[in-house]
Parts: sequence; C-alpha cells; structure tokens
Amino acid sequence: MAIQTDRSDRTPQEYELLTGGGAESAELEHKGLSRRQFLRRAVGVTIGIVGVEATAGALYMLYPNLKGQFGSVIPLKNKSLYPGAQQKEFALDEKGMFYESAAKSYIMHLLPGGSTTFLLNGTDLQNGFVAENWVVDSDGSYWLALYQVCVHLGCKVPFRDDCNSFKCPCHGSHYNIDGEYLDGPAPRSLDRFAMSFDKSGVVQVDTGKLNQRVERPDVSTRILNVPGITCSAS
Ligand code: FES
Repeated sequence: MAIQTDRSDRTPQEYELLTGGGAESAELEHKGLSRRQFLRRAVGVTIGIVGVEATAGALYMLYPNLKGQFGSVIPLKNKSLYPGAQQKEFALDEKGMFYESAAKSYIMHLLPGGSTTFLLNGTDLQNGFVAENWVVDSDGSYWLALYQVCVHLGCKVPFRDDCNSFKCPCHGSHYNIDGEYLDGPAPRSLDRFAMSFDKSGVVQVDTGKLNQRVERPDVSTRILNVPGITCSAS
C-alpha cells in the first residue's frame, strides 16, 4: 500500500511510519503546527493560568471573606441573655452592660424609668437616637453596640461599675454608659457599630459599619444624664 506524502492528509499512524515520531508530533504535523508554535502556545496558556491565579489571590487579599469575623456581621447571644438595667444599676456582664470580645464591643441594654433620665425629648430625642445608633426595642428598652477603643489614642476602655461609666486608664477620657463624652482629652464620644436582632432575637453587631461621627455632646444633643460620680483614672 502506497503511503500518502501530503502532510495534511497523514494520519498519526502514517506519521509514525515515516518519521518515527510520537502521537503528539503526529498531531502537530496534522494540525500544521511547528514545535516552536506549540511551545509558544503552551507558554501562553501557562502564563494565562498563573495570571488568573495571581488575580484571584489579589482579589482575596483586597476583599477577604470575613463572614463571622471582625469586620463583618457578628451574631452574638439571644437578647434574653442580656438583661437590661436602669441607668444607675449597671453591673458589667450581669445587667445593663456586657462585653463581647468577638465583636470588640460593649452591648448596652438600658431600661426606661427609675434612674434612667433622658435630657432630650420628642423629635430631638428621636434624632439623637438615630445619630448615635441607638436601637429602640419593641418592649421599649434601648440597645447600643459600643466599640471598645478609646477615640483619644486607641487604648481599650473598661466599663467601671464603680463609676457607672467608661474610664480610659491611659489618659483619663471618660464616657457615659451610652458612650457619650463626659470629660478628658478624647475628641468625641465613643464610636459605635450598627446593631440589630435576627428573627429569633439574636443580637447581631455589624462590625463593618462603625459610626465615628458622634461629637462631644452639648446641651442640645446630650441624650443621657451624666453619672455625677467622681471617677479616678485607676
Ligand atoms: S487613649 Fe484613652 S484617654 Fe488617651
């Protein structure tokens, strides 16, 4: 049987007989690709794959998946596990104020009446709630998620039961139970996160949404009465 000599018509098997090359070479021959062209294409594909992986890595670095981590919405406990208290009855992690390390926040749960004294009313009070991220619950109690960091130079601010307020140990900045500035070098009130409840009543803190715009209050904006306690730095 005569073997065809037209390159484009050779089968891989015919190529084997003629050249002793492998099936890959036969395919190259069949498709009219030189080895140089083939290598160029292979290098191009490899560079393309590496480029896609590098781009994906860069995007991950820029937009990491923070689900459940600080910087995202963090579900905490059911609100029934944060018993509320009136303004002068707070006790850290027992009633009124609770520290949550996952959200780097203090959860305030304030009950109306008794020693709770609002300094604003009507539209002014409602506007204050909105400006300072208060959440008014269906039972009439009030919630806040306060970021733990002092807005002066970044120390962690403890809540002090004996002061009925937050007192920074570094330079003495002092904040009311709702994070409003009282005295000291801090330039504004404590920052606070957006918070909400899910359908089953779990407290959710959106640590990706930080309100850093609550100024030192004056008589027209201060929401809560001041504690009226002299609070030492330590
Ligand atoms: S860091 Fe808190 S008062 Fe300076």
